[in-house]
Amino acid sequence: MSNYHIKHLEEYYQVYRKSVRAPKQFWEEIAEEHFLWHKKWDNVLSWDFKKPEVKWFEGAKLNITVNCIDRHLVTKANKTALLFEPNDPNSEAQHITYQQLHDSVCQFANVLKAKGITKGDRVCIYLPMIPELAIATLACARIGAIHSVVFAGFSATALATRINDSDCKMVITSDGAYRGAKTIDLKGIVDDALENCAGVATVLVAKHINTDIAMVSGRDEWLQPLLDAAATTCAPEIMDAEDPLFILYTSGSTGMPKGMVHTTGGYMVYTAYTFKNVFQYKEDDVYWCTADIGWITGHSYIVYGPLANGATTLMFEGVPSYPDFGRFWQIVEKHKVNQFYTAPTAIRALAKEGLELVEQYDLSSLKVLGSVGEPINEEAWHWYNDNIGKKQSPIVDTWWQTETGGIMITPIPFATPTKPTYATLPFPGIQPALMDDKGVELKENQVSGRLCIKFPWPSMARTIWGNHQRYKDTYFSAFENTYFTGDGALRDEVGYYRITGRVDDVIIVSGHNLGTAPIEDAINEHPAVAESAIVGFPHDIKGNALYGYVILKDVGESRNQDNLRKEINQIITEHVGPIAKLDKIQFTSGLPKTRSGKIMRRILRKIACNDTANLGDTSTLLNPEVVEAIMANAI
Ligand code: PRX
Repeated sequence: MSNYHIKHLEEYYQVYRKSVRAPKQFWEEIAEEHFLWHKKWDNVLSWDFKKPEVKWFEGAKLNITVNCIDRHLVTKANKTALLFEPNDPNSEAQHITYQQLHDSVCQFANVLKAKGITKGDRVCIYLPMIPELAIATLACARIGAIHSVVFAGFSATALATRINDSDCKMVITSDGAYRGAKTIDLKGIVDDALENCAGVATVLVAKHINTDIAMVSGRDEWLQPLLDAAATTCAPEIMDAEDPLFILYTSGSTGMPKGMVHTTGGYMVYTAYTFKNVFQYKEDDVYWCTADIGWITGHSYIVYGPLANGATTLMFEGVPSYPDFGRFWQIVEKHKVNQFYTAPTAIRALAKEGLELVEQYDLSSLKVLGSVGEPINEEAWHWYNDNIGKKQSPIVDTWWQTETGGIMITPIPFATPTKPTYATLPFPGIQPALMDDKGVELKENQVSGRLCIKFPWPSMARTIWGNHQRYKDTYFSAFENTYFTGDGALRDEVGYYRITGRVDDVIIVSGHNLGTAPIEDAINEHPAVAESAIVGFPHDIKGNALYGYVILKDVGESRNQDNLRKEINQIITEHVGPIAKLDKIQFTSGLPKTRSGKIMRRILRKIACNDTANLGDTSTLLNPEVVEAIMANAI
């Protein structure tokens, strides 16, 4: 029996039991047999969730790019590592082999070094989904610099916040991005952001859309000439297993985004192991994850997990709707994609367009379908299963988080029987628990509660950059000695998990995590606004959409309310990004508050969801009369 490659349900249960009974031995065997270490560890695991502190493979030395690239050169130098499909279907796809990837990563790494970047420095990457994005992240890892990839849909303000929070020395960007029929001036956004980022000495600019852009002398440099002049070999920096590999920001319920810190050894082992099993990747398969590398899904399952397995991983620059809603299926046919991993929001948007655009294409190469980022509703699950998988390709509904680094609860295709809307069973090594409100673990089946993880796993984030206390408060304080996910879940009669959604103030819109605080802060910047509150409400395509309640300073504000709504969304676009725009904005004279002044979002959420039959207890409110008024004017 192989612990590394699980093929049957029985095998899963055996491996799972071993992973719980003897976790250190279990992970040690996997780490030892499937990866290249410069030096082995002194200790597999030490942990204390009270501090909290977790260390995997302590004392081990490695470089993750050696595992993702160099070691494959012996047998796979000419195999396609990155398969790049551009935005424009008439532009040619690019096949980048393992050898070419090696050479490009080394060149890029040498450029970083020449620009003064050394081990431990933070480098911000703000690029569209072009090969340079994957290459830049790997180049940072090659020399031990910590990459902080910021999704290129974030605004200048959001970018600046992230650059400053982790003191990035350098920004890597491009002259622009294609997004369907549109172009986006990425470099202009970087220029705006850098007005507030004194620590950035260098901006490297990839030429992509070939527009005329302003270059700041002494700071900005075109990337290509530097790469052309650089050597194609670069000795890998030898890293400790617990050295940070990257920072990736995610939204919190309150305040600043959280810079989740992922370290090297455990992250590599876990993303590689999950990739192999969750997608049942075989040697000549073509694997495609439609996420952006700006999110954790792209880090773990476009770059590191697939490459650590010597896979061919497809990177798509465009959007599902351009030139039409058949684009995904055209790419599946063109590249004979075997594993396809996307988000429920995309599935719902594509389902809405009807089957004609699906039926034009040959999807018979597909073997495994994946879903990630938000709960998948029953209708979308069946549409995906019937029309894309033709009931032959199992759907892996994978539950995990930026903080978990890798997939945590998921079926293993061809082993775990799937069940619509259920993420099913914990991956080996993962020990979930459901807690009631009082912090008591619910041990039986057929219960629902707050989803926690009781035991460390190799790819968990180790801290929040610069704020360990917040890490402790957010994840390890709600329940004793347990990691709290922020999600609610139920467990059915056979032990399958179904994730029911966030139980905090994070709202998932189109699969993107949005915290309410930065959006409310942005709205409050509008000169006419006194106060605001954001909640989520169900949306057919996006899963959730945002509903804003806004109090104006001047009650008699005479301006056209539609114009005000547009201005508010404009401010949100500037401060956070277009993904955070509100679908509904209700102007109101007050917000329901507790006597201690806290906004009662529970009530606002019910009104936004048109679920006002049972508003719960409003008697403790400071201003119960405001509830009636809000209900009367709800949109
Ligand atoms: O609420 C859960 C939801 O997405 C959250 C994590 O978001 P993020 O850190 O952006 O990572 C997304 C990609 C891993 C979770 O707390 N979520 C993620 N996957 C699922 C899910 N909810 C239900 N089912 C899933 N498969």
